[in-house]
Amino acid sequence: MKVLIVGSGGREHAIAWKVAQSKKVTKIYCAPGNAGISEFAECVNIGAMEFDKLVAFAKENEIDLTVIGMDDPLVGGVVDAFEKEGLRVFGPRKNAAILEGSKAFSKDLMKKYNIPTAAYENFDSPEAALKYLETAKMPIVLKADGLALGKGVLICNTREEAMEGVKTLMLDKQFGDAGNTIVIEEFMTGREVSVLSFVDGNTIKIMTSAQDHKRAKDGDQGLNTGGMGTFSPSPFYTKEVDDFCRKYIYQASVDAMKAEGREFKGIIFFGLMLTEEGPKVLEYNARFGDPETQVVLPRMKNDIVEVFEACIDGTLDKIDLQFEDNAAVCVVLASDGYPEHYEKGFKITGFENFKDKEGYYVFHAGTKFDGDNIVTNGGRVLGVVAKGENLKAARAEAYEATKLIEFENKYMRNDIGKAIDEA
Ligand code: AMP
Ligand code: GLY
Repeated sequence: MKVLIVGSGGREHAIAWKVAQSKKVTKIYCAPGNAGISEFAECVNIGAMEFDKLVAFAKENEIDLTVIGMDDPLVGGVVDAFEKEGLRVFGPRKNAAILEGSKAFSKDLMKKYNIPTAAYENFDSPEAALKYLETAKMPIVLKADGLALGKGVLICNTREEAMEGVKTLMLDKQFGDAGNTIVIEEFMTGREVSVLSFVDGNTIKIMTSAQDHKRAKDGDQGLNTGGMGTFSPSPFYTKEVDDFCRKYIYQASVDAMKAEGREFKGIIFFGLMLTEEGPKVLEYNARFGDPETQVVLPRMKNDIVEVFEACIDGTLDKIDLQFEDNAAVCVVLASDGYPEHYEKGFKITGFENFKDKEGYYVFHAGTKFDGDNIVTNGGRVLGVVAKGENLKAARAEAYEATKLIEFENKYMRNDIGKAIDEA
């Protein structure tokens, strides 16, 4: 089989690496890919939003399966564009990717089908939003309806901050049209857990749990980022939590989408908060998480291409999804200054140190070739991953692994996985 993967980050590197293990696969392409992916796949210079070019490439090169990693193309209808030409593609159609593409849609869906989530109201006028805030309980959370690179969520401690937030999202349009509608929702407290799942329209199979670290600095301080590190599994995702989510959240979400005429095939990523009242859905994503994928896929035992195909064919019930009984930790090596100002173009050394290290992985996020050298080319540069027999061991190994890579302005959090000490 020839497989095309669409995307260019650490998530896509992990997906491509896992696809490369499949017995069925003879050739992998990645559009646009990155320096790490190019070690075992052919990177093609087509952007993830260039649907016509992607479809033409898939036809010309007789691609048997295309896997979409990123949210923007999914929400924009890339799957529909492939299907229209009779091409096999893994991911939700546009009418299902709205689960991630519109927070107002997903909140209304959860309300209609009694799926536990924070209380909320949707607003498409700033006046109405401001009026609501006059009497609302603080702290409160404002969310831009549309995609905003994970940055469209404002946690507001005071009424003034919240009113200012409405201005930022709806009037100044910091996130463009994503802020035409906003969700205002109750502030919840609790631990966050990410749960990824495969879905074939009817059946849902849950992968192992993970936890992200979104803030830039140790102790969850600093600005929100695309994710500074992850661990899997989450020790807070207990059997009791899992039972609850299976009963009230997972299948209910898949059934709700089907009942709405929006059959979902692909990945549903449940962003959960474990509140005192039980687990609640913070958000849905319609794709693999980044950097959750980097700790989940190295622990997965199945041939991922078989699972992708089962989702497309509606035969996921036949798949016995299995994960190793161990743990993995990912520490992101970033450019100092990220997520604000940072420099690029520094030479990265040490990749060869990973060659013979069993259970160590390095997934590229923002890198490129400069002649024969690999150089930094983004805020998040690499995700260094290690597996261990348990979370403590994996964390120790992952931090050992960070020492094997060097580049100027290398920055990382030193407390990834610290929460496991409290479990
Ligand atoms: P989201 O993109 O909806 O997952 O929101 C991004 C982050 O904002 C989440 O990972 C949480 O840390 C935080 N957040 C979102 N909604 C809430 C809420 N209702 N209460 C508290 N924190 C929230
Ligand atoms: N790690 C969070 C996300 O992928 O959205």
